[in-house]
Amino acid sequence: MIDVFKREIAQALSPALNKSADEISRLIEKPKILDHGHLAYPVFSLAKEKRMPPPAVAAELAQQLTGKIKNISEINAVSGFLNFKIDPQALQNEVFREVQQPEKLGRTEEGKGRRIVIDFSSPNVAKPMHVGHLRATVIGQSIKNLALSQGYEVIAVNHIGDWGSQFGKLAWAMQNWGADYDFSVEPMKKLVELYVRFHSEAEKDPELEKKGAETFRNLEQGDAEIEKLWKKVIDYSFKDYNRLYALLGTQHDAVIGESFYNDKLDDVVQRLEKKQLIKESEGAQVVFFEETEKMPPCLIKKSDGASIYATRDLAAAIYRKEVQKADVLLYLVGQEQSLHFKQVFKVLDLLGYDWAKDCHHISFGLYQFKDGKMSTRQGRVILFEDVINKAIEMVSKMIEEKNPDLEEKEKIAKEVAIGAVVFHDLLNDRVKNVEFDWDRIISLDGDSGPYVQYTRVRCQSLMKKYNKNISFENLSLMGSLEEQRLMFTILQFQDVVSGSYRIFKPNILAQYLLELSGNFSSFYNKCRILGEDPKVEQSRMALVSAVDRVLIQGMKLLNMPIPNAM
Ligand code: ARG
Repeated sequence: MIDVFKREIAQALSPALNKSADEISRLIEKPKILDHGHLAYPVFSLAKEKRMPPPAVAAELAQQLTGKIKNISEINAVSGFLNFKIDPQALQNEVFREVQQPEKLGRTEEGKGRRIVIDFSSPNVAKPMHVGHLRATVIGQSIKNLALSQGYEVIAVNHIGDWGSQFGKLAWAMQNWGADYDFSVEPMKKLVELYVRFHSEAEKDPELEKKGAETFRNLEQGDAEIEKLWKKVIDYSFKDYNRLYALLGTQHDAVIGESFYNDKLDDVVQRLEKKQLIKESEGAQVVFFEETEKMPPCLIKKSDGASIYATRDLAAAIYRKEVQKADVLLYLVGQEQSLHFKQVFKVLDLLGYDWAKDCHHISFGLYQFKDGKMSTRQGRVILFEDVINKAIEMVSKMIEEKNPDLEEKEKIAKEVAIGAVVFHDLLNDRVKNVEFDWDRIISLDGDSGPYVQYTRVRCQSLMKKYNKNISFENLSLMGSLEEQRLMFTILQFQDVVSGSYRIFKPNILAQYLLELSGNFSSFYNKCRILGEDPKVEQSRMALVSAVDRVLIQGMKLLNMPIPNAM
C-alpha cells in the first residue's frame, strides 16, 4: 500500500524538518499532476519558519535528500512542493505483495474493538418504500461494508416506523374489510388500498375516525386481537421489503421498530425531569434550547399524552448506547430530517451524555428525474421498486439489442441494472441531489456502474483466454507509463477505502473504481497482453488479475452485483 512509501519519506524528512514521522506522513499528499511524481510534501509552513521562499526551501531539501530515501528514485522541487517518484520496481513489488491476499485488500484494523450501530433503510410499515428509502438503503449498506472493512464491529438496525395512530385505522379496516383482499399476492398494494378505502369512507362517515382512534387505544393497551392484526401488517410489509432487500443484497442484523421503545419512553421522560429539562408548553411537554442554538423546542409528549418520533429516537439512542454498547451511532436519513436529529443529539448532550458527539446523522439529498415520466406521476412519490424495475427493463432491452445470445440474460440484466442504480447513487456526493439521466446511468462507456462491471468482465475473459495459472512471482518490470499508472492506482486502494469510511462518503470509492477502470482501459489499449513474449505476457496477466481483484473488492464494498459476463 501507498503508506509503505509515505513512511519511508516521512522518516527521511523527519530530522531535516524536526517533526515526527507520523506528523509528516499525514501531510504527504498526491500531486495534482501525476507527471510531477507519486507523492508530494508541501513545504510552505517550513518556509515560513525559515523566512525563505518556498521554492528555495523545496530545492534545498530535494538536493539534500536525493538518493537517500529508500525506494524513491527521484525527488523534484516544484514551486512549494517536494515531489517524490517511487522507484518503478519497488512500486511493482509492493502491488504484487499486496494483491496476493485478495480478501485482505482495502482492510485495516483501524476500528478494532469499537462497535457501530448503524440505522439504515428504516421504512414506515404499511407503506411501500420510496426513493428516499432506496438512498438510505444503498448508502447505508455501503457504509456498513466500509466500517466492517476497517475492523469495526457493526450492528445494522432497521428502525422501522411501526407505531402510530394510523395502525389503529389499518387494524380496524383489516378487521372489517380484510376478507375482501387476498394478501398472498402483492400484500403491500392491498394494505395501501385498505388505507385509502378507510380514508375515503371516513369522509362520508366521521364515526370511522373515532373507531380508528379507539382501535389504536386498544392496541396501546395490549388488546391481543388487535395486536395480532398489527403484527400481520408488519408481516405483509416485510414480505415486500424483503423482496427488495434480496434484490439489492441488503443485510440488517436486527429489526427493531419504533414500537420496541414503547415501554422505555417513561424512562426518557424521567431522565429529562431529573435534569429539569422538561417544560410545559401549550399543554405539551417539550425541551427548550438556548437562544444561540436557533432551534425550536423538541417535542417530547403531545398534549393528549401521545409520545412522538423524537422521544422514540431518544429512547433508541439510549438503548443503542447503554444496551447495545455502541461506540458510534450512525443514522442514514434524508436531509429533510436534519433538524430532528440536531434536536435529538442536543437533548442527549443536555442530558449530560458526552457520547452525543458520537452520534452522526449521515444525511443525503433527493433524487431528481430528468425524464418527465418518472418525475410527475401526479405528484405521487416515486417508489423504490419503480426505479429498480425501470432499470431492469432498460438493461434487458440493451442486452437484446447488443448481445442477444448472452447466456442467463435475465440474471445478468438484473445484476447490471442494480449495479447501475446503486453505483449511480453512490457516485454522487451524498449531500447533493442525484440527477437521474437514465441513458448515462446504464451506459457501458460512461461514468457508470456497468462500465466498472464491464471492466471486470474484460479481466475475466482475458484470464479465461490465457487459460494458465497466473503467477505473481518472477515478473518482468512493467515500466511503461500505462502500466506504472495502473499499478500506482492499485496501490492507493487501501487509502481510498479508509478515507471513504472516515468521512462516510462512498463516492470516493466509486470515483476511484472509475479511475481504475479508465486506467485499465488505457493499459489494455496500449499494451499487448496475449501473444506477447511469455514473460511479458505472464507479467501483464498478473496485472490483469490484480485489477480484477481490486475491482471485485471495491464492488463488494459498494454492494454491487458482480456479473460474470455482459
Ligand atoms: N421511518 C423514518 C422515515 O421513513 C426513518 C427513520 C430513521 N431512523 C430514525 N432513527 N429516526 O422517514
